[in-house]
Amino acid sequence: MKIVELIKSHRAKVGIIGMGYVGLPLSKVFSFKGFAVTGFDIDKQKVLSLNNNRSYIKHIPSSVIREMCVKYHFRATEHFSNLKQMDAIIICVPTPLTVMREPDLSYIVNTARSIRQNLRKGQLVVLESTTYPGTTDEVVKPILEETGLKCGKDFYLAFSPEREDPGNPKYSTEKIPKVVGGVNRISTDVAVLLYEQVVLRVVRVSSARVAESSKLLENIYRCVNIALVNELKMLFDRMGINIWEVIESASTKPFGFQSFYPGPGLGGHCIPIDPFYLSWKARQYEMVTRFIELSGEINISMPYYVVSKTMSALNERQKLLKGARIVILGMAYKKDVDDIRESPSLKLMELFLKEGARVTYNDPFIPSLPKLRHYKFSPLKSTPLSVKMLKKQDVVVISTDHTAYDYQWIVQNSSLVIDTRNATKNVRGYPERIVRA
Ligand SMILES: NC(=O)c1ccc[n+]([C@@H]2O[C@H](COP(=O)([O-])OP(=O)(O)OC[C@H]3O[C@@H](n4cnc5c(N)ncnc54)[C@H](O)[C@@H]3O)[C@@H](O)[C@H]2O)c1
Repeated sequence: MKIVELIKSHRAKVGIIGMGYVGLPLSKVFSFKGFAVTGFDIDKQKVLSLNNNRSYIKHIPSSVIREMCVKYHFRATEHFSNLKQMDAIIICVPTPLTVMREPDLSYIVNTARSIRQNLRKGQLVVLESTTYPGTTDEVVKPILEETGLKCGKDFYLAFSPEREDPGNPKYSTEKIPKVVGGVNRISTDVAVLLYEQVVLRVVRVSSARVAESSKLLENIYRCVNIALVNELKMLFDRMGINIWEVIESASTKPFGFQSFYPGPGLGGHCIPIDPFYLSWKARQYEMVTRFIELSGEINISMPYYVVSKTMSALNERQKLLKGARIVILGMAYKKDVDDIRESPSLKLMELFLKEGARVTYNDPFIPSLPKLRHYKFSPLKSTPLSVKMLKKQDVVVISTDHTAYDYQWIVQNSSLVIDTRNATKNVRGYPERIVRA
């Protein structure tokens, strides 16, 4: 088979659709293994930026893009007719929820249609976007087969979930085992072969549906466990017990326990969204995914809890939330990343503003707030941290525990710190200024 020879010799042309947090690092991995990679995106700015050797993702330096372009001939394009020349096509487009919190497959469908127009015999197509079980078989395959070409005979189709942990230097893409499942056996064989060239371990599963489900299980597991500690945080707080100390001591159990940490809510492109892809699909089978619904409910309520703790802390100081000056430290959804998608800090900002507080923010990674789909804030820039700025605030809310922050200095210069991340655990003195929420 020609595709097998091309993959084995690294002469296969790889097209990656969606140059975002998943597609760009993947392009890097394939490029560095000697494959000719073309990155496809509908965002002209991203295409331009990549072709000018410029990165737009913090943890991928521009020098890497330059190396990809100059040494390994990586190119980005918005012209999807170039898909015809590709031997392997990997889809990494977004899978958000609609306003009704239902799966929005429009990106996958549009991409599949673009591929359909350019599909030819011998190509491998792999979907990497997180989605409900059955998407590859029931949505992508029929669109591609509208060409008259048959999956498993004329082209190959598989699903392989992405397990990127942005900002975690311990696990680079090549070191993370890659689950791969095709819609038929031959598709699995070809897709497994492709990924074996670039990652250390490929985990072969019996179908695309298993691969799709495995990604959802991973994320639902996190979502449910985070909700559990969030609920316990609220209970233990009422009982005067520090949840962080409880988790630390429980984590000394050498088996059967994994630590999860509470926070101001759930953020990122995956964990707040992916579980609801399965809830939606479950309804087709007359099942209700109660764990997912319950954990969603608890996690969504967390920013409201932080606001009510802030209100009580101000109340104790005979102050009102209305008119209070609040600075939120950290807008990114987790520490040391520049990604604000679904960040609970945004919800916090919205809730504080609704209560009439005067809200600003600081985040070393988010110099200004971009246009947001769900929030309508007036244009806002990160306020530089200074003693004067901190002293002016009625409340400093630590929403994201970036490593760059000097928490001792922050507490020393603030009158009230609402700490949602236990970031102040090593701060010496001033216990009366810190409220955990
Ligand atoms: N970010 C993560 O850490 C992560 C981890 C695991 C899985 N995922 C999953 O991977 C998928 C992609 O996520 P991401 O974080 O890379 O998203 P992203 O928003 O960073 O990137 C998606 C890219 O796709 C482009 N795009 C949208 N529609 C397109 C189209 N029709 N054709 C070509 N390009 C198009 C966008 O312009 C954007 O550049 C999602 O399904 C997500 O759930 C993400």
